[in-house]
Amino acid sequence: MYTSRIAGMGKYVPENIVTNDDLAGIMDTNDAWIQERTGIKERHHITKEDDNTTATMGVKAAKIALERAKISKDDIDLIVFATLSPDYYFPGCGVQVQELLDIHTCPALDVRNQCSGFIYGLSVADQFIKTGMYKNVLVIGSENHSGGLDFSTRGRSVSVIFGDGAGAAVLTRSDKEGHGILSTHLHSEGKHALELSLRGPSTEYWVPQILEENPQEDIPYFPYMNGQFVFKNAVVRFSEVIMEGLKANNLEVADIDMLIPHQANLRISQFIQKKFQLPDDKVYNNIQKYGNTTAASIPIALTEAWEEGKIKEGDMVVLAAFGSGFTWGSAVIKW
Ligand code: UT7
Repeated sequence: MYTSRIAGMGKYVPENIVTNDDLAGIMDTNDAWIQERTGIKERHHITKEDDNTTATMGVKAAKIALERAKISKDDIDLIVFATLSPDYYFPGCGVQVQELLDIHTCPALDVRNQCSGFIYGLSVADQFIKTGMYKNVLVIGSENHSGGLDFSTRGRSVSVIFGDGAGAAVLTRSDKEGHGILSTHLHSEGKHALELSLRGPSTEYWVPQILEENPQEDIPYFPYMNGQFVFKNAVVRFSEVIMEGLKANNLEVADIDMLIPHQANLRISQFIQKKFQLPDDKVYNNIQKYGNTTAASIPIALTEAWEEGKIKEGDMVVLAAFGSGFTWGSAVIKW
């Protein structure tokens, strides 16, 4: 049986930085509340002047990942694209990336698992490589949140949290046993689907119907989040799925060299860190700079941790995510 390893990673965020004070200028919020409740200081937002979309940011991250992996785009056997904010209702961003990278007829698969999307994508890529069906898989997580948030005071509990950006990883077949992706564990619980959701536009809330039926104060085409309920579920599921991954590999918390939690809220990461009694240098957080970039958050953080020399060959790296669906998952990687 083959194994897979991450051969290269890349990240891209739009240049435009939006601070908490910038948001306080357009809605009733303030820097102290945002930092206290989420840890976020600033995030990056696409502007009308740049050429960024979910697909094009994904391409920018992917080009860096391919270059670092030293793998040609022509050798990519599968593209997996995770996002909750695609450029089009259909088709998905995977085929756009394929066209923009000028990759011919390899399959392009879109993953709809929100904050857990990158881990789901990684798992899909890993399975295809393990079975021998594919050798090189490009996995991308990218989000354009700013294009779809409610920046009035009504939407403040959601809109201050999210940021735009993309991350990518190139997975390749490895013959080194005990290295690379050791395991992935995935879960979902559809009964909480609407606790963190964007219901329209959809076939349930199609645009003409939204305009006709919904009063301004109850617009279903802005994201809704039951924040405290999501928070409580997140801390439980993060812990469970990290332990599940460690156990499956006969590892203990002490074996973790670097934990990269999905950047949902700094308080969630700190809760997990405290629970597992991990020192500061074994948990990577960058939500302070980027906000929550959903499917892009783990690949951006993983890339940045690697760029900063915080992940070295032989390290045990654990990725964990929780989000809308609810969906959650973990990946254990021997670097
Ligand atoms: O990535 C996907 C998974 N997502 C998560 O894991 C997120 C989980 N949830 C959270 O991170 C937190 O619940 C939030 C950061 C979203 C909210 O923090 P909270 O401590 O749960 O605040 P809250 O929603 O209970 O609101 C507390 C107060 C309310 O005012 P009152 O009713 O106490 O007067 C809100 O109206 O804070 C008010 N508030 C704000 N004030 C200033 C809500 N949003 C804001 C804001 N600025 N942006």
